[in-house]
Amino acid sequence: MISRETIDEVKNRVDIVDVISDFVSLKRSGQNYKALSPFNNEKTASFFVVPGKGIFKDFSSGKGGDAITFVMEHEGMSYTEAIRFLAKKYGVEIKEDVQSEDLREKQSEREGLYILMNFAKDYFKDNLFNTDEGKGIGLSYFHERSFNDRTIQKFELGYALEGWNNLSDEAISKNYNKELLEKTGLTVRNDEGRTYDRFRGRVIFPIHNLTGKVIAFGARMLGKDKNQPKYINSPETEIYHKSDVLYGLFQAKNAIRQEDNCFLVEGYTDVISLHQADVENVVASSGTALTEPQIKLIRRFTENVTVLFDGDAAGIKAAVRGIDLILKGGLNVRVVLLPDNEDPDSYSRKVGTSEFQKYLSQKSQDFISFKSGLYAAEAGSDPIRKAESIKEIVNSIALIPDPVKRSVYLQETSQQLKIAEPVLLTELNKLLVQERKKKERDQVLPPRRSDDAPSFDEPAAEIPVAAIDASQKVYFQERETIRLLLNYADQSLEDQKLADFLLNELDDVEFVNPVFREIYQHFRDHVQNGKMPDSQYLIQHGSDEMRNVIAGLVMTKHEISPNWKKKHIYVPAEAELLPKMANSNVLRLKYRVVQRMIEDNLVHIRESEQGGNKEAFEKYWEEYEGLKKAEVELASLLGTVFGK
Ligand code: UTP
Ligand code: MN
Repeated sequence: MISRETIDEVKNRVDIVDVISDFVSLKRSGQNYKALSPFNNEKTASFFVVPGKGIFKDFSSGKGGDAITFVMEHEGMSYTEAIRFLAKKYGVEIKEDVQSEDLREKQSEREGLYILMNFAKDYFKDNLFNTDEGKGIGLSYFHERSFNDRTIQKFELGYALEGWNNLSDEAISKNYNKELLEKTGLTVRNDEGRTYDRFRGRVIFPIHNLTGKVIAFGARMLGKDKNQPKYINSPETEIYHKSDVLYGLFQAKNAIRQEDNCFLVEGYTDVISLHQADVENVVASSGTALTEPQIKLIRRFTENVTVLFDGDAAGIKAAVRGIDLILKGGLNVRVVLLPDNEDPDSYSRKVGTSEFQKYLSQKSQDFISFKSGLYAAEAGSDPIRKAESIKEIVNSIALIPDPVKRSVYLQETSQQLKIAEPVLLTELNKLLVQERKKKERDQVLPPRRSDDAPSFDEPAAEIPVAAIDASQKVYFQERETIRLLLNYADQSLEDQKLADFLLNELDDVEFVNPVFREIYQHFRDHVQNGKMPDSQYLIQHGSDEMRNVIAGLVMTKHEISPNWKKKHIYVPAEAELLPKMANSNVLRLKYRVVQRMIEDNLVHIRESEQGGNKEAFEKYWEEYEGLKKAEVELASLLGTVFGK
């Protein structure tokens, strides 16, 4: 177990902006930062980081918390893994508690897999540079393909020796766990139960995750043996899900952010050759069709993708398929086709760095001209074929989720193809209607919101009152109370602090929502002891759920437009309205609670009436009258507050 001391030290050192910037491209927004959600596809930024409070909140997925929560959510790590990761980043020495030997054996399987993959990567590298076979066969193969040593190091390339058990023997001699070794896929067990190395006599391309850990390998054969696959790859494991990974993203992510564009190629060697031609913003889908998770990965760093494929029929087919997937994922897409029979690897080497870069910028075209060019060549002057090619293009446009972008592309198509825009629009709308009908058919009604499953991203004001029932009103009112406490506990209202006022007034109100109740109790306990808790303290000490809720509430999603200030329109800041807000909030919360009680009470009245239980009926009826009186009283007080 990692010691408490280490955990605290890590917490003290982390800079949330620094941590999140490794994964998301943040844009400054006042004192805070904004970005597109790394957890969801979205068009407008709803991911917020507040460095002053050390927290983030993602309104589109509902996730939120501190830097540790972020790493856990984003990298799929456990709490301990996240602490270790951050300790490493900030050079904090990890001190383990005394029982560590025992626990180390039980250390999570995932961590074990990472360690083994790292061991294998080092082993393959060592083979490449320090064995005769590695140097003579592997290294000279890379050199033949003009990979220089810097590139070889950057991608941590390696070599797997000939022979059945080299890696396994080495691992076992170093006391690595045999079972785990099989789980990495590095060794394979045959039908007779004997194990052997998966990769033999091949050059090795490690596949890294976003943080640079090796999670899989691709291994290329050296000769031209027709009976063997060109590449053998790691199988899916606990830490490697092929469809969630892009080869080269770890090495490319900073360049992608800087260039605000990502080149997409097919193979390992294409990625590497582009790096050698000083094009570093490049990733590969590794020979399969692009997946949705892969598109989301790219989206964390840029909205622009340029597909770079061979000019042959297969390459064009792959490009067409890629374009539609990328558009559907909400990204902008451009295309560069290489001359026939060339792939990025061969062509960049053939023409050299500067020619190649020139080619990329000159031949890059938007998907409309790419597609129309494609079909124009096929169609010639045949009007029917031409109509088909227009349909093809509109098909792609219909996939774009953003209506504004759709109409821009429609205009572009109209200009490029010399077709009246209304004609295209009719075609597009036909497709969109079809799509919507299909969706409606598949749709099930959304579940009704309940107290236990609140949605945190919807401010109360945006929900039509008629659409929410009393229990939801209580929920929103409770949330507002907690929000005021978290943000303004220490502020003075006339003669007392806001927290004191709220706690006094609400003393007898029991919060319905368990998380709000917990936070409220924290406040009550602290204030009774004469201490004022702040949101930071609660975030550090609360449960995961609490942290998430708090993060959402200490952030204001809607900032006042700077234009208003420019135009000298005075917008009172929330803090100035505080006394009024606190007061009306208390009244409203009490009002909602009473309403809720009345609702419950009516159920009881009906039940006792139907059950013929006169005694209960009378008791509930009496209660009902009391509640009604309270309701009227509160309503009239609220009326005075709002001047109704
Ligand atoms: P390519 O055959 O184009 O390989 O397949 P490449 O990377 O360009 O290699 P060179 O330049 O011919 O040496 C593209 C990608 O498809 C996957 C690999 O990820 C490869 O990089 N692939 C291909 C396999 O997984 N297995 C195979 O047998 C072939
Ligand atoms: Mn290739």
